[in-house]
Amino acid sequence: MRVAAFLACNALLAGVANGFKWPWENSSTKSASSSATQMSDSAISSWTGVTSSTGDGIGYAPRQTACPEQAIVREASDISKEEKQYVEQRQLVTTEALQKFLSEVSNLIDFNSDSFFGSASRNISIALAFSGGGYRAMLCGAGELLALDNRTTNLTTLGLGGLLQSATYILGLSGGLWLVGTLALNNWLSVSDVMNPKLNIWDLDDTIFNPSGINVFGTVSYYVRLGQAVNAKSDAGYATSITDVWGRALSYQFFNPDTFSNGGENVTWSGIQDLSSYKNHQMPFPIVLANGRNPGTYIVNLNSTVFEVTPYELGSWDPSLRSFVNLTFLGTALDDGKSMKQCVTNFDNAGFILGTLSSLFNQVLVRLKLNSGLNWAIKRVLESVLGTFSENEMDIASYEPNPFYNTLYGNLDSITNNQTLHLVDGGEDQQNIPLYPFIQNSRDVDVLFAFDNSGDTHQHWPNGSSLVHTFQRQFGPQGRGTPFPYVPTIEKFLSDGLTTRPVFFGCSANNLTDLVNYHNNTVNATDIPLVVYMPNHRQSYNSNTSTYKMNYDYDEMVGAVTNGFEVLTRGNFSDDAMWNKCVGCAIIRREQERRGLEQSDECKSCFEKYCWAGELKDTPALTVSMASLQTSKSSVSSTSSGASLALTSNSPVVSGQSTLSSLLTSQGTRTLASTTRANSGERVSCGIVSILTWLSLIMPAFI
Ligand SMILES: *[C@@H]1O[C@H](CO)[C@@H](O)[C@H](O)[C@H]1NC(C)=O
Ligand SMILES: *[C@@H]1O[C@H](CO)[C@@H](O)[C@H](O)[C@H]1NC(C)=O
Ligand SMILES: *[C@@H]1O[C@H](CO)[C@@H](O)[C@H](O)[C@H]1NC(C)=O
Ligand SMILES: *[C@@H]1O[C@H](CO)[C@@H](O)[C@H](O)[C@H]1NC(C)=O
Ligand SMILES: *[C@@H]1O[C@H](CO)[C@@H](O)[C@H](O)[C@H]1NC(C)=O
Ligand SMILES: *[C@@H]1O[C@H](CO)[C@@H](O)[C@H](O)[C@H]1NC(C)=O
Ligand SMILES: *[C@@H]1O[C@H](CO)[C@@H](O)[C@H](O)[C@H]1NC(C)=O
Ligand SMILES: *[C@@H]1O[C@H](CO)[C@@H](O)[C@H](O)[C@H]1NC(C)=O
Ligand SMILES: *[C@@H]1O[C@H](CO)[C@@H](O)[C@H](O)[C@H]1NC(C)=O
Ligand SMILES: *[C@@H]1O[C@H](CO)[C@@H](O)[C@H](O)[C@H]1NC(C)=O
Ligand SMILES: *[C@@H]1O[C@H](CO)[C@@H](O)[C@H](O)[C@H]1NC(C)=O
Ligand SMILES: *[C@@H]1O[C@H](CO)[C@@H](O)[C@H](O)[C@H]1NC(C)=O
Repeated sequence: MRVAAFLACNALLAGVANGFKWPWENSSTKSASSSATQMSDSAISSWTGVTSSTGDGIGYAPRQTACPEQAIVREASDISKEEKQYVEQRQLVTTEALQKFLSEVSNLIDFNSDSFFGSASRNISIALAFSGGGYRAMLCGAGELLALDNRTTNLTTLGLGGLLQSATYILGLSGGLWLVGTLALNNWLSVSDVMNPKLNIWDLDDTIFNPSGINVFGTVSYYVRLGQAVNAKSDAGYATSITDVWGRALSYQFFNPDTFSNGGENVTWSGIQDLSSYKNHQMPFPIVLANGRNPGTYIVNLNSTVFEVTPYELGSWDPSLRSFVNLTFLGTALDDGKSMKQCVTNFDNAGFILGTLSSLFNQVLVRLKLNSGLNWAIKRVLESVLGTFSENEMDIASYEPNPFYNTLYGNLDSITNNQTLHLVDGGEDQQNIPLYPFIQNSRDVDVLFAFDNSGDTHQHWPNGSSLVHTFQRQFGPQGRGTPFPYVPTIEKFLSDGLTTRPVFFGCSANNLTDLVNYHNNTVNATDIPLVVYMPNHRQSYNSNTSTYKMNYDYDEMVGAVTNGFEVLTRGNFSDDAMWNKCVGCAIIRREQERRGLEQSDECKSCFEKYCWAGELKDTPALTVSMASLQTSKSSVSSTSSGASLALTSNSPVVSGQSTLSSLLTSQGTRTLASTTRANSGERVSCGIVSILTWLSLIMPAFI
């Protein structure tokens, strides 16, 4: 598609500056616009102080390049050899950091680090997963990360500093992606640096839509820049969508302007590989998630296709696709993985990936132009930037050409038959915490920290829904070979207070053997990660703001971050002075089980406190009838998988009356009592240096 916005925007700017005619007065011509381009560029610089070497948005456009020797698309049979190499190197860092963490922060009694690590069966692998939920999730997650980072100075005795350095993987989805993406793309900046107003990265005071405040010209030129970049991509012959505009807007917000000119216009996701913090393996391996959704269809958790994006690849483990494409060559026209003509690079623009994976927010951008309070000039330019995009299915980002066109590893025609790959926000399948990459066979994760900053209830607190959906998905056609520990129903999450404190799931691998049997013993029970669930709840601040709240002043930012810090530290350990130990106990648990090592008394008492000891009968029923999961004629689903297996499964009883087969054959949603969340009450947090005082030191503007 071709947008007239490029011409329109430039003429508009020229108009503002020089009294030219407005484009909607229909007098702009090619020649007028080319001179307007020059004028507007210099005008932009002089008015906004933004200088650019590529002011025409060209840095955003994909470019031709020579094709590589090796295959661009591969079957998803294992992690890539590049990831394997990264993880091996990262584990040299994490294992050392973990030893330090366990002795200095967890301070475990009856734990001999030398013998534990000396005869390890493998390296302990920790994954941190940050949920979606807009800026709320980003800020609460930032507080949690702050408490995990050993770079957070002056607070190390109060937090769990060093756990971040001990983590092999980090994941983000939607709002959580903004957090993980900001840190990763800015060369693994710490949260305390990101929040430093001097760096101008997280200035959330309405800046994404109105970055120059009352300086209308500045804001207009901002939208012009967004439009120019998108047009450069369109001019290069690529389909564009509202997601491109949204992605450009996000980039201006999340890239350090001192390091990146033009809002990181030419920064790519695969470019993370070139960052120094990546090359020296300081960064946990970052993964972000999307869902597949074709226009005219809706996502059903049990048969959705979940995509992951790493610095190396984009693709899915699901039986529907089972393929990955080399991210560097995304945008290349491929047929069954073979290049038809020249190869293409620079398609994987970092902002575009950020926009795709948080595409639910496209609607916020679109609604903006209906805002009657908007300055007319801003409104005009917005109309011209957004005007030509379809507002139907506006959450769908188009990846055209489809890198998986005619590939044969998966079994869902609707993905591989289409010239366009359609991706949406990773939270659309309701698995709002990105756990999927870690219940895959080939990533040996021991413990998964699930940070749930979802806004599930009417008051925007989590209700466990995300874990419920991930649990259920393993029984669907896409979930084969991906066992996930038992979790309770949403009703039980709420009634038992499991959303107002941390909870461990899958504490004993022994109890998971019938899940392993269900998955045809493709994994050992000790390969199923233990899940440490950390729900957002009130500690010192009501961090339950709406997912679509798009502006936060410093006061609100600090409140949410502080509360996140206290969620992670259990109110700076005032809720539980043993919490640091209990986290250590969870981390070493699977390795102990693999080697048949006994838990210490200390760890036993932690597990009594934090493990969910519910039974199979307490787990959620499947909300969609398995029989209705038949999809395209091609077979994802195959009716033969879930449903019939369920009927023939003779899994042993898990300490209770229910069996897996009764679980699988029970259908329909259970009635959920509408439970109001218990208020955790007012309590002033304590500590040597309170987080609030500390934040005021790094964020002087707040005080
Ligand atoms: C602008 O001018 C062209 C050709 O002169 C005409 O076809 C088009 O309808 C006009 N557009 C508007 C919005 O008036
Ligand atoms: C992607 O292609 C580049 C260039 O050929 C190559 O160096 C890299 O190893 C490939 N990455 C993956 C994950 O295949
Ligand atoms: C841990 O990882 C390092 C680096 O990859 C490797 O050398 C070492 O053998 C691993 N340790 C175990 C116990 O597997
Ligand atoms: C944080 O951990 C890393 C990795 O173990 C280590 O290299 C670094 O020295 C630590 N920093 C501080 C301030 O302790
Ligand atoms: C914070 O720690 C640094 C050293 O890491 C020290 O110089 C500074 O004085 C400390 N600030 C406070 C408020 O304790
Ligand atoms: C992006 O553009 C800037 C100038 O705007 C340039 O300095 C930088 O090298 C470019 N980066 C890449 C990866 O092309
Ligand atoms: C491809 O997707 C488009 C929507 O973008 C749809 O209209 C079309 O029917 C699909 N084509 C095939 C062959 O499935
Ligand atoms: C729980 O969360 C899900 C997903 O956000 C929502 O659809 C459901 O209504 C919520 N249920 C309760 C009881 O809060
Ligand atoms: C287990 O194996 C059977 C027989 O090969 C197969 O039909 C079924 O789909 C498998 N189940 C899973 C969860 O992989
Ligand atoms: C399970 O563990 C045993 C013993 O370590 C190992 O030999 C076997 O390959 C594992 N099975 C799977 C499916 O990983
Ligand atoms: C799980 O295993 C432990 C120890 O093996 C046992 O005491 C407990 O009853 C089992 N069941 C549940 C639901 O935790
Ligand atoms: C998933 O299942 C639903 C309901 O059965 C169906 O409408 C939808 O088309 C399926 N999606 C895919 C991608 O097969």
